[in-house]
Amino acid sequence: MDHYKLFIDGEFVDAESGATFESIDPGTELPFATVSQAGTAEAEAAIEAARRAFDRGDWSGLTPAARAEKVYDFADQVTQQTLSLAITEAMDAGQVIGLSKYWGMLGSQLLRNLAYYAATSFPWEEEIPYAGNVFAPGRDFIRREPVGVCVGIIPWNFPASMAFWKIAQAIIMGNTIVLKPASATPLTALIIAEAAKAAGIPKGVINVLAGPGGELGKILCTHPDVDKIAFTGSTEVGREIMKMASDTVKKVTLELGGKSANIILDDADMDLAVNGAVFGTFFHQGQVCESGTRVLVSSKIYDEFIDKMKRRAEALGVGYQLFPTSHMGPLVNGIQLATVERYVKLGQKEGAELLTGGKRVEAEGITGGFYYAPTIFTNVKNNMRIAQEEIFGPVVCVIKYDSDDEAVAIANDSIYGLGGGVFSSSTARAEGIARQIRTGTVWINNYHSFGDFCPFGGYKQSGVGRELGHSGLSEYTQIKRIHVNSYAATESHFTMAILSDDIKIDFVQYNCPTNVISGHGCLSSIYKEIVNLNCRRALILTDPGVRDAGLTQLVQDALVDFCVGVFDDIAQDTDLDIVDAAAAMARELKADCIVSVGGGSVIDTAKAVCVTLRNGGRANDHIALYRLQEPQTPHIVIPTTSGTGSEVTNVAVIKSKAAGRKVYIVDTRIMPNTAILDPRFTMTLPPALTATTAMDAMTHAVEALTSTMAQPICDGQALQAIRLIRENLPKVVANGRDEKARGNLQIAATMAGWAFTIAQVGLAHAMAHTVGILHNVPHGAACGILLPKVMRFNVDYAADKLAMAAQALGVNTAGMDDREAALAAADAIEMLMKEAGHPMRLQDVGVPEEGLDMAAFHAIADVPALFNARPVNDPQEVLELYKQVY
Ligand SMILES: NC(=O)c1ccc[n+]([C@@H]2O[C@H](COP(=O)([O-])OP(=O)(O)OC[C@H]3O[C@@H](n4cnc5c(N)ncnc54)[C@H](O)[C@@H]3O)[C@@H](O)[C@H]2O)c1
Repeated sequence: MDHYKLFIDGEFVDAESGATFESIDPGTELPFATVSQAGTAEAEAAIEAARRAFDRGDWSGLTPAARAEKVYDFADQVTQQTLSLAITEAMDAGQVIGLSKYWGMLGSQLLRNLAYYAATSFPWEEEIPYAGNVFAPGRDFIRREPVGVCVGIIPWNFPASMAFWKIAQAIIMGNTIVLKPASATPLTALIIAEAAKAAGIPKGVINVLAGPGGELGKILCTHPDVDKIAFTGSTEVGREIMKMASDTVKKVTLELGGKSANIILDDADMDLAVNGAVFGTFFHQGQVCESGTRVLVSSKIYDEFIDKMKRRAEALGVGYQLFPTSHMGPLVNGIQLATVERYVKLGQKEGAELLTGGKRVEAEGITGGFYYAPTIFTNVKNNMRIAQEEIFGPVVCVIKYDSDDEAVAIANDSIYGLGGGVFSSSTARAEGIARQIRTGTVWINNYHSFGDFCPFGGYKQSGVGRELGHSGLSEYTQIKRIHVNSYAATESHFTMAILSDDIKIDFVQYNCPTNVISGHGCLSSIYKEIVNLNCRRALILTDPGVRDAGLTQLVQDALVDFCVGVFDDIAQDTDLDIVDAAAAMARELKADCIVSVGGGSVIDTAKAVCVTLRNGGRANDHIALYRLQEPQTPHIVIPTTSGTGSEVTNVAVIKSKAAGRKVYIVDTRIMPNTAILDPRFTMTLPPALTATTAMDAMTHAVEALTSTMAQPICDGQALQAIRLIRENLPKVVANGRDEKARGNLQIAATMAGWAFTIAQVGLAHAMAHTVGILHNVPHGAACGILLPKVMRFNVDYAADKLAMAAQALGVNTAGMDDREAALAAADAIEMLMKEAGHPMRLQDVGVPEEGLDMAAFHAIADVPALFNARPVNDPQEVLELYKQVY
């Protein structure tokens, strides 16, 4: 009798205790080999060897391509073992030779296929193109790395195949493995180990133990040096393994039991379907986890179907597995035979009808052996135990159904979800059903068909994770994210600054892709701009106020034949529905660019429209920070107010009814392509709007100047904007026809826009957004009212910057310290507002006093509050500010 040894740390060894056990041929019940029986010492030695090998790095540290070279050698050695694998598998597991002869070929192909994929296509490293976090500037990428020491525990039905799956996936991905085959069928795994040794796979990378599952399983599943367990077997044992693995929180993948439905539709090709049902159940004596053991047959074809299925099953040859004419061999052992006999009795007791089989069979020319006839139960109800529990033998339940929906419901009425089939002559109908079945695999007009690149695994209690293909290989890796900070200096550190009370963020990302054209009559450059953008079909976006002021017509005239339409239905402080309506019109008219003519409401709508057009779907799909990767739909802006600066900023602010607040798209990609600052477009702006929109720009400038992210580029722009507003706003208030002053206010707004694109804004904006959304206060008016109070609130955190603002505001700061000058700046802004007739209190713009506490709470969570010079975390302080200006 042949003797097989354990494979530990690259050597074939006997157990320290000297214990052995016999392998029994289930076709004759005679022993044909002895095997060393591993105990605790061997299990620990194998785990230690695998740990050492992994940590040594002579396998885990190789490149996937270098590992693949070795795996190809391994595959060649496996091919050389084809005959030995075929005979041994047949004698150990009872597989007919017609099946077991394939393992040499299939195993070596699996090794080659997966190793090639891992070496050439598997995404070991991937750039993350967008962090989705404005506070994490830098490069992010992920690496997939081996998990470490893996344990593979495999069943007795397909010992060679399962050994190949576990070994191949683990080692190809750089792991090491301790494999424990079922004690009934340990031999072929040890032959595979021989092939690995002959191929020079480093010692300890593959270890194979033979012995009792209970004792060895306990050590393997609880040992702290084991990182992952991949188990194939019964759901019952799977549950135990998950429990054992939980103490040391191992990664676990489980491929467990099933009670799969094979649905035969009324339009199925009858002979194909009958063969599918027979093959789906009786292949390898039904000892297959994903067998189609519930055959659901349409009542329209039921009688003919079961008649043919019966005849087909009775024609199957049950015999000794090494005889080439045998279709079916023995069950694996006496225990399994007893289980099958018990279930057949139970089925009869439950009222199912035994159509054929239901008895043991003697194999011709052989004494002994665990042979059982292919058995069909009809008249089965899905709630019977024979239809709910896994029998794991040649027993099939046929269930009649009336409609496709009923078939799907029966198929899904199971604790399992592993496989299943649909037989139909309509692929569309079969696919429709396949989509509704909650299992890991569905075959259409086929059964038991596997592919090295096709994932296999279960829904529900059929398992966790997947085997094979990309998904299977991924299960043998860990994901590591690596972040490389772009601004590696303390002062540039936004995230760590959260622990600081005096935040200064000293990094700059100055990106000004917008082509800014300014001056009287510069509208006429629009035609050339459209051509430069390679566009021909402009849709104008505007609002009724701007249209009624005659400004839209000016643009239409300038565009001549490049204008395909006008959308003028934009409300003040636009919302997502308006964006969707404008995008729908743009799609209908096949617009290839957007020209926005108006204030911030129009421009922001247009920005969101451009993103929606480029990326499809609805505006709400695109509310995100830094996610866009390509240029958006071209956008030309003609601002008509004195305020937002949105023509050059990377922000779109939109009201969302669903979110109950303003939401943002922030992205460099939404900065408009061209801004045309033609002062003629602001000449019609009424005095009140001139004042409030100019104060919006002023707020941008002051808040950017004092922001935690301020730096000299934005300081320069902010200070010049402050200067221009202070000089020109009184002139425009005095004379709305002063075109020079109007033009300067427009430029101030654009410069303030640049400044805040770099440095963001602060608390005044957060507070303005909040009362804006709660009480419909125009944005500029709210900003203006709140700005001086917020400046005073910030005084001890930004005195130097506010002192600079004081000078830009024309305050004579001689003899003042920074703090005094900062407070004088706030006073100067209040004076400017009064001079411009700007509202000074929230009640002037219709804010009710009750509910301010709610506004305060929302304000501290609004994004701009994060950049405020003074940290704001206390809603009480914010409420105090609201009250001061109420
Ligand atoms: N994206 C950004 O960078 C940014 C910056 C600041 C503000 N915003 C947003 O901008 C919006 C406010 O924009 P806004 O203050 O420009 O106001 P707005 O666009 O809402 O316009 C206000 C009113 O002014 C009228 N109007 C505009 N120009 C006119 C003209 N020349 N003649 C006559 N009437 C005219 C409009 O018809 C409208 O009724 C807010 O939603 C705010 O959140 C965005």
